[in-house]
Amino acid sequence: MNLQQDALPAAYWQRRYADGTTGWDRGQASPGLDWLLDRARQEQWRTVLIPGCGRGHEVIALAEAGFSVTALDYADAAIQHLKKVTAKNRLPIELVQTDVLTYDPKNRFDAIYEQTCLCALHPSLWSAYERKLAQWLRPGGSLFAMFMQTTQPQGPPFACPLGRMRELFGSETWIWSPVLGRVDHPAGLHEWACELRRAADFQA
Ligand SMILES: C[S@@+](CC[C@H](N)C(=O)[O-])C[C@H]1O[C@@H](n2cnc3c(N)ncnc32)[C@H](O)[C@@H]1O
Repeated sequence: MNLQQDALPAAYWQRRYADGTTGWDRGQASPGLDWLLDRARQEQWRTVLIPGCGRGHEVIALAEAGFSVTALDYADAAIQHLKKVTAKNRLPIELVQTDVLTYDPKNRFDAIYEQTCLCALHPSLWSAYERKLAQWLRPGGSLFAMFMQTTQPQGPPFACPLGRMRELFGSETWIWSPVLGRVDHPAGLHEWACELRRAADFQA
């Protein structure tokens, strides 16, 4: 397996933004975010991370709801778009232009909203990404994952069937809640929304 060869570079995603081939973009926050918002209010969470945020409709919705949001993406177009929106609306969002596989924050987050970043990565990178997700969360923090379902043989998006996800996000690190529900996408695909809590005694 050659990780370098399998990885899609930032330039690939930058070109998708430049060409306007951004079929994943709903133009508004996904209804899948509501599960996180409900739990975050109950638990009084403060900090949320969104990796591979794209144009960041969910980033804006969380910031407007009063959460402290950190958003990651390595495509310049995504970051520049969000910079403009956050400056205009004076929203306190931390934008970080970086590869998710190298991001190493000082503080851990209460929650992560993962929406179509995993399925944008080649499956050869999934284990490394799963380790990052676990390291970014504080003990007991929650990962809200929208696992992409597709039958197309080539990605992105790479299919994330739940059986494969349960192997990837194993019980030594993750405590799975029952599946939250199905999120349909206007482009015709759908995601399974899941909440996975990071075990308190997880070893990095
Ligand atoms: C399919 S889009 C999803 C965007 C957004 N989450 C949404 O649902 O609208 C995937 C995004 O992840 C970003 N991305 C892919 N691989 C990445 C990586 N290794 N590091 C940082 N960002 C990455 C791309 O630039 C792109 O903006």
